[in-house]
Amino acid sequence: MYRTHHCGALTEVEIGKEVTLSGWVQKSRDKGFIIWIDLRDRYGITQLVFDNDRTPKDIFALAQTLGREFVIQVTGKVIEREAKNIDMPTGGIEVSVQDLKVLNTAETPPFTIEDETDGGEDLRMKYRYLDIRRNPIKENLIFRSKVTIAVRNYLSNKGFLEIETPYLIKSTPEGARDFVVPSRLNASEFYALPQSPQTFKQLLMVGGMDKYFQIVKCFRDEDLRADRQPEFTQIDCEMSFINQEDIMQTFEGLTKHLLQELCGVSTGDFPRITFEEAMRTYGNDKPDIRFGMKFGELNSVCQHKEFKVFNSAELVVGIAVPGAASYTRKEIDKLIDWVKRPQVGALGMVYVKCNEDGSFKSSVDKFYDQEDLKNWAEATGAKAGDLICVLSGATDKVRAQLSALRMELAERLGLRNPKEFAPLWVVDFPLLEKDEETGIFHAMHHPFTSPKKEDLEFLSTDPAKVRANAYDLVLNGNEIGGGSIRIHDKATQERMFELLGFSPKEAEEQFGFLMNAFKYGAPPHGGLAFGLDRLVAILGGKETIRDFIAFPKNNSGRDVMIDAPAALNKEQLQELSINTL
Ligand code: AMO
Repeated sequence: MYRTHHCGALTEVEIGKEVTLSGWVQKSRDKGFIIWIDLRDRYGITQLVFDNDRTPKDIFALAQTLGREFVIQVTGKVIEREAKNIDMPTGGIEVSVQDLKVLNTAETPPFTIEDETDGGEDLRMKYRYLDIRRNPIKENLIFRSKVTIAVRNYLSNKGFLEIETPYLIKSTPEGARDFVVPSRLNASEFYALPQSPQTFKQLLMVGGMDKYFQIVKCFRDEDLRADRQPEFTQIDCEMSFINQEDIMQTFEGLTKHLLQELCGVSTGDFPRITFEEAMRTYGNDKPDIRFGMKFGELNSVCQHKEFKVFNSAELVVGIAVPGAASYTRKEIDKLIDWVKRPQVGALGMVYVKCNEDGSFKSSVDKFYDQEDLKNWAEATGAKAGDLICVLSGATDKVRAQLSALRMELAERLGLRNPKEFAPLWVVDFPLLEKDEETGIFHAMHHPFTSPKKEDLEFLSTDPAKVRANAYDLVLNGNEIGGGSIRIHDKATQERMFELLGFSPKEAEEQFGFLMNAFKYGAPPHGGLAFGLDRLVAILGGKETIRDFIAFPKNNSGRDVMIDAPAALNKEQLQELSINTL
């Protein structure tokens, strides 16, 4: 038997017991006549003690040879510690070792395996298996497992069936590029890895499965960020004979359950806002509503004077930054430099200090009087002591810029508390989005999303005006899920493909299987998919999903541990009929 207990199990209750433990040497302190070793496993750390009086001589000598990360097995007696560590569950005891076996030696690890490590990101990714031994990563993976199990239990209790769908498929349009896999048996042909199981889950509904879910890998070849990986996991769900309200209730229920079970937080009903309102109020379709700083549009109170910049702008909009009237000139200049960075792209920023005495001091005092500035304060909800930051320009651009500033300031002011959870639904997304360069319409969610009945009349006259039965679930400024009610009749689906610029032949080639299925009695259906990695990270109080994935890719899409992707040899390429010129 390798062990009678885990390294996190022993407390004063076991004092006097003989125990056997196995684990890794975290740390060794050798005082010559006494050695203390911290023994670690997944469950915790137990202090071992070897000394001249109680430990057999050969065992003591062996203990002196142990290095960091050696894998050992010890047997000994649980004794009370002289110097107790009340911060550790096992801090009241230690094990006086009588027998020691070295199960495996270890080279000195390339970084220290402790909560605070000296290892940089690249090094830790290369030796991910060592990083996983560290508490921060280990705890994240344990947390992810808990979330996944809670999701399975919840959905299964609600009558959902977990059904797997294939990975070797044909392209599904979710807006990113596909990863493709060459087929040996079908020369010069390729599978695509699913960007999501979208079409398959719809076919499961045609198959009568009624309530489906799957915790499933999805693959998207897109630019990577802290919240994006090329392969990531969805909690993918679909239901039949439901409307949008049923779907939102069901998955709001799941989210509330997870917040309660895993974070101990109970939330009321999630607020809902329309896409249009989200863009107007926060400049963003995934607003962080843990804090205010709502947008105040100023066109009507700033375009009556001689200030050309504002007069010529499509939108002038500001936010009130709480308590920031005390910023020095230098601090404000830095903020202006920040919004002018290419990543944000503003041309400049106008500001107004709302002084404690009720007066205002602005960077445009030449043009605006106190009465004007008072109106701005009203429109942005600014109070005495606040700083109003104002940007102007083309509506879409200026909203994105002010949204970036809002998030940055909230971060700096400590308003993005990771222990606070502010979920909301964003609804009524536009069905289509126009590519400004090509003038071509793309589906904003995906081509299977149904238009709102009352907007159908605009499909041919003003497609940009058509709203979709689509909804996103947002948590703390992150899109953690999204879905829609689907089109379930062949004619509408065909019309949709046509609108998206598919010729009937192209639509048939790519989606013939789905349209064909719609001929045979497709039920009304709809669904949603959560991004599991994002959901877990945010519930865990973080926003970097890499830390919640056992073996993630870096920002260039590489797995630096196994060194993938990698070249194939000539024979393999030939076998796959890939030209090797
Ligand atoms: P969507 O494309 O919105 O919808 O994806 C659903 C959720 O998946 C997460 N997500 C990602 N997470 C990590 N890395 C990525 N690269 C990445 N891309 C997306 C997001 C997102 O909200 N088939 C539809 C769902 C449906 O209509 O039912 C779909 O895939 O959290």
